[in-house]
Amino acid sequence: MATSPARIMSEFSNPNLEPLITGEAIQARIRELGAEISRDYAGRNPLLIGVLKGAFIFLSDLMRAIEIPLGIEFIAISSYGAEMRTSGEVRILKDLDVAIEGRHILVVEDIVDTGLTLSYLLANLKSRGAESVKLAALLDKFERREKDVPIDYLGFKIPDKFVVGYGLDFAERYRNLPYIGILKNSEEAQMGLPMNSSSA
Ligand code: IMP
Ligand code: MG
Repeated sequence: MATSPARIMSEFSNPNLEPLITGEAIQARIRELGAEISRDYAGRNPLLIGVLKGAFIFLSDLMRAIEIPLGIEFIAISSYGAEMRTSGEVRILKDLDVAIEGRHILVVEDIVDTGLTLSYLLANLKSRGAESVKLAALLDKFERREKDVPIDYLGFKIPDKFVVGYGLDFAERYRNLPYIGILKNSEEAQMGLPMNSSSA
């Protein structure tokens, strides 16, 4: 019995996913962004703030492509249903552990969609007295923008499709994919976020 190999249903080749950006393409783009950030922030000891949960893989790869001294922190914010999102109000679930007054902040986010979450967060961080606040985002779903958010370091512009993988989830699933894929055949996916999603 022990000799018969278990059949693994690999999530990585799930037929409900259409590959959009390969893991290799992501790594190549991150190397470019890292070099750019290393140049721009030389001598400034930037503090990278990762937005949990979605940005944790991007942050971990991006920081290893930046060769100057830096610090990292995490912040967790809630994503609500359509009503709350339209108001642009966001609840902080886990705040920073340090003061950021006088620091050069680089917010690291997985995707900018409507821009509501990020415009709130960037304003919030500026109000804490940061010396500068910039944004690195892996993905830009630009067609859905409601609030203008300047993305200083962008990985890829993508079409208006619900994507998962490389940290991005649908109802907490698919974060472990090493690539970005479009989630097909999901009614919820057409509507955007799961309404009860509690961690961006
Ligand atoms: P925004 O306030 O609409 O820009 O919301 C951005 C947040 O929504 C991101 O940080 C993600 O957590 C989530 N999100 C938006 N689009 C997608 C997607 O296609 N896949 C997974 N999460 C998404
Ligand atoms: Mg996010």
